Amino acid sequence: MTSELVIKDLHATVDDGAKAVLKGVNLTIRQGEVHALMGPNGSGKSTLSNAIMGHPHYQVTSGDILLDGESILEMEPNERARLGLFLAFQYPVAVPGVSMANFLRTAVSNVRGYTDQPMVSDNNRPGMVGSNLMPMREFRNELLSKMDEFHVDRSFAKRYLNEGFSGGEKKRVEILQMAMLQPKIAIMDETDSGLDIDALRVVSDGVNKLAGPGLGILLITHYQRILNYVQPDFVHVFFDGRIVISGGAELAHELEAKGYQWVKDEFGEAELVKA
Ligand SMILES: Nc1ncnc2c1ncn2[C@@H]1O[C@H](COP(=O)(O)OP(=O)(O)OP(=O)(O)O)[C@@H](O)[C@H]1O
Ligand SMILES: [Mg+2]
Repeated sequence: MTSELVIKDLHATVDDGAKAVLKGVNLTIRQGEVHALMGPNGSGKSTLSNAIMGHPHYQVTSGDILLDGESILEMEPNERARLGLFLAFQYPVAVPGVSMANFLRTAVSNVRGYTDQPMVSDNNRPGMVGSNLMPMREFRNELLSKMDEFHVDRSFAKRYLNEGFSGGEKKRVEILQMAMLQPKIAIMDETDSGLDIDALRVVSDGVNKLAGPGLGILLITHYQRILNYVQPDFVHVFFDGRIVISGGAELAHELEAKGYQWVKDEFGEAELVKA
């Protein structure tokens, strides 16, 4: 069965309800599809990603988010991850004290269901402290082979997550996380920002390697550039808390050429008339 994420007339607020940011978002993303989401700064794109993943600072006030017909609104972020949702953050946070390998082993174990199993000691040696994580050797082999495949230097496994990573390194590591977690639907929030030309290629190649019938992607971006490498099936324009225009890849070229003023003229005015 093809999985689908359905966002239905979603309204959400931030800042303890003080500010309405999402004002009726409708969007369906199926496995195998690449959707690009473009829109001016502050229009609510990252808020939409955070609402989908269940970030506690964002309150859904009406509408729904369904994965394969089931509402995920009441679920914790880790449950959403288990169902196959993944978010690559616009600004990944550093986690001092937690190595990338340990972080990923925990995340992968959660998503693959190891954390539901009874604790077993590594190698079944008496007296060893038990764990219910993916077995170390198996995890390590998979991690190292994916690090090689996605061009992340092996030394990063031991480094604290995102601490001191350059902008480009953070983005590569996020692709690696995606490769390890194998989500059904991935939201990539400005994965291309701050990348030099070679890094953009590496990251785009990574996205293309992962893309396919098993993965639906929502690619949030400001630039047509990445869409030269990652071909979108759909392009949506986000403005003032909702999607106002949808089209094919040509829409991204139009935005690049014309900017957002015409969107503001068309949809900003309508809002004023309504108000
Ligand atoms: N935690 C928060 N507290 C207060 N305001 C917030 C919070 N998160 C988002 N906002 C506000 O919500 C609005 C939408 O922000 P959001 O980050 O979703 O925009 P965006 O479309 O991702 O912008 P950009 O293209 O610059 O990344 C902004 O006005 C922002 O200041
Ligand atoms: Mg943003």
